Amino acid sequence: MENKMRMRNKYRKPTTLHCYAGSRYSKLSIVVCSLIGCLIMFHFYFLNQSQQSQTGVPQMQSNYHPLYRELIEVEDDTIKIPPPRKRSPRAIKRKPKRPTTLIEEFLDESSQLRYLFFPGVKTAIDPMKDGGNESFYYHPGRIWLDTDGNPIQAHGGGILYDDRSSMYYWYGEYKDGPTYHAHKKAAARVDIIGVGCYSSKDLWKWKNEGIVLPAEQTDETHDLHISNVLERPKVIYNQNTNKYIMWMHIDDTNYTKAAVGIAVSDSPTGPFTYIKSTRPHDSDSRDMTIFKDDDNTAYLIYSSDDNSELHIGPLTQDYLDVTPVVRRVLVGQHREAPALFKHEGTYYMVTSGCTGWAPNEALAHAAENIMGPWETMGNPCVGGNKVFRLTTFFAQSTFVFPLPGFPGVFVFMADRWNPADLRDSRYVWLPLLVGGPVDRPLDYSFGFPLWPRVSIYWHKRWRLPYKLSAKK
Ligand code: DGJ
Repeated sequence: MENKMRMRNKYRKPTTLHCYAGSRYSKLSIVVCSLIGCLIMFHFYFLNQSQQSQTGVPQMQSNYHPLYRELIEVEDDTIKIPPPRKRSPRAIKRKPKRPTTLIEEFLDESSQLRYLFFPGVKTAIDPMKDGGNESFYYHPGRIWLDTDGNPIQAHGGGILYDDRSSMYYWYGEYKDGPTYHAHKKAAARVDIIGVGCYSSKDLWKWKNEGIVLPAEQTDETHDLHISNVLERPKVIYNQNTNKYIMWMHIDDTNYTKAAVGIAVSDSPTGPFTYIKSTRPHDSDSRDMTIFKDDDNTAYLIYSSDDNSELHIGPLTQDYLDVTPVVRRVLVGQHREAPALFKHEGTYYMVTSGCTGWAPNEALAHAAENIMGPWETMGNPCVGGNKVFRLTTFFAQSTFVFPLPGFPGVFVFMADRWNPADLRDSRYVWLPLLVGGPVDRPLDYSFGFPLWPRVSIYWHKRWRLPYKLSAKK
């Protein structure tokens, strides 16, 4: 038999691997070679991953179009805590000072480093000053003035691009009132004032369109009574009814009502008429957002079961209610502040952890089907420094919107909350790009990424690619 084999193979060109069919040695060598191949691939893959996790920088930037390059330039931030002031030996003995961390400084209302996170009015972004070099530049964390020269009040907000007026509208919590605690254990709050609305053609100069859904001043039983909570308003347009529909988180001072509110208007600039609040799918609902898909089906996504999971379900055709269809996703992951977007048929979401007004680590998630399953990919933040990346640049996600004409490029909107003075919370807008390998392989994917990476690039100062600015 062996002889016959040798005869048959006499005229065959020998391969380097000597893979003669049926030979015991050849089978072994195939297995060994495959194993070595796999090991080499794993080695390079994990080398890439570990380099990336050390720097927060994905190793794939050179493929991008030149216009994107400015957006994905990796900027480090070298904020250093100055050495503590000299103290007397007696004071040191009484209370030895342990070194503070950047996050402790951020949370400390009397920290001398507060100006780093909340720079003063002198550095405000003022679109009406012909700033020359500063025109169209975003400065995350700086005060951002509207076209009347007042700080923009649109916290926990979202953007609507209105085809009918070719305008962008920015809706958010109008928080220009005093911050206080309703009782000892209550979170810092500002009475409801209403939903602020701003309009813009270029995403940089914003005109105040007023409070499009105001608080209720007298009726204490009303959801919008000043003593309650109105957070994270989002607006979408319904082409069947020609109405603008607003969804928002409605709560009481202690966050026990845990409901969503719905309002409607004929115009993007209001006034919006409040319809009702509801506990969607009979569930508690706190941080939320809505997402309108390409086929015009809209979805409500909300933190539920005491923030331990997210729920997602389609809205009715008029967008005024939920349907009975709902899925529980990211169960047990304790995520909030969902910001959902879509790229090339895949759904993505950025979420935060649940730590009140304090910043924490963002996570990016992906799904083939909006109803799930949703997979967690890892921290999307790139650049800054480690603390920046672990705190979402000291901010919390609220919305992500696409830049038209720039496939895979989005703007990530986040709030840098200032619990000592919530009206002075800042906006952190940064470029978000979809592409390249993920930084943490999924459990079942044998170390190979299933989704492209979502990256949010830190910039002290950045602007949109010129085409968009020129067009608008
Ligand atoms: C975190 C949420 O994301 C915010 O919208 C707000 O509800 C705060 N918690 C209140 O502590």
